[in-house]
Amino acid sequence: MPQKIFLIAAARPNFMKVAPLWRAMAARPETLKPVLIHTGQHYDKNMSDVFFEDLGLPAPDVHLGVGGGSHAQQTAGVMLKFEELCLAEKPDLVLVVGDVNATMATSVTAAKLHIPVAHVEAGLRSRDMTMPEEINRLMTDAIADLLFTPSADADENLRNEGVAEARIKLVGNIMIDSLVRSVAKARDLSAYTDLGLESGKFGVVTLHRPANVDDPENLTRILDVLTAVDLPLVFPVHPRTRAVMVHHDLGARCGLVDSRVILADPLGYYEFMNLVIHSGMMLTDSGGLQEETTYLDIPCLTLRPNTERPITITQGTNELATIESLPGQIDTILKGGWKKSRVPELWDGATAPRIVAVIEEFLSA
Ligand code: UD1
Repeated sequence: MPQKIFLIAAARPNFMKVAPLWRAMAARPETLKPVLIHTGQHYDKNMSDVFFEDLGLPAPDVHLGVGGGSHAQQTAGVMLKFEELCLAEKPDLVLVVGDVNATMATSVTAAKLHIPVAHVEAGLRSRDMTMPEEINRLMTDAIADLLFTPSADADENLRNEGVAEARIKLVGNIMIDSLVRSVAKARDLSAYTDLGLESGKFGVVTLHRPANVDDPENLTRILDVLTAVDLPLVFPVHPRTRAVMVHHDLGARCGLVDSRVILADPLGYYEFMNLVIHSGMMLTDSGGLQEETTYLDIPCLTLRPNTERPITITQGTNELATIESLPGQIDTILKGGWKKSRVPELWDGATAPRIVAVIEEFLSA
């Protein structure tokens, strides 16, 4: 009898991490039966469905339909529905990825039902407790049985927290599995030429962290920096950011219409990666994009005071930025003076099979 593995997907950055795991498990039908659970945290077509199509994921086996809301509403809503599901379906293991609210909600629920939990992307730490993701990471890592880490710095963080060596498994970066599989196809699409852009001669912007976008005055200051850049910038706007921009009429207030900033709706995986691959720089506050640009050797400015992914700075193309430091850093990139990246060890597209091998061994013990 194959063992039943619940794979939890909730929000946009989860889908490209779950896809290679689902595929690697589906290829082992004699030992594993992956069951895809979508909690519903992200629900717009272009924040969710398009990723299932692009990444070759089947429709979720179960959709919990929890949707948005406050952190407590999201977390409690997922826990209530997920507990019922676990009691009815009795999975042999629950696998969670990343650091979103559902990562923590489902791992706590499973652990209390004595169902083993595996956390992929374990051990990352920003040391910034104002970030909801840091709380999710700490709580998930405290209770997961298997901690799959992307890099040695994450192992070190876990060791410093007293985590037993046997729980820590350095397997590499799961997100890079999806990127390696997609990069050739994404490169050949025409998303950037359709916007009238030339390869290497534009930047890509993403912003959605509460600390950057929730306060309209702060967001205005960021948009003012963007409109002053002497380069076209494509900015696919996250729903959270769009809500603030629309409510406070920031498009008009910041003169975006007359600027070189091209506003777009959120894009699918392939279209977005086409823009990133052909861009000359990335300006972001995302976690995953720091890693993807390091892999692709694209200069990256991360508009945050800290990062849980320091290897993207020490080995990659990433640097932290403030609103004040951005213009100077952008200028350095435009003058061709940016550092080159060295792809971190085990960011090789083969992380999913390594994880599956460990899970098979764990479940057969
Ligand atoms: C969440 C994650 C964050 C991740 C980000 C990627 C947590 C704590 N945060 O933040 O780590 O980097 O996803 O996007 O889990 N909304 C829509 N349509 C959607 C999705 C969201 O309109 O498809 C709206 C929500 O209703 C909400 C806002 O956007 O008003 C924010 O969504 P939410 O999922 O709460 O947080 P994110 O900022 O997306």
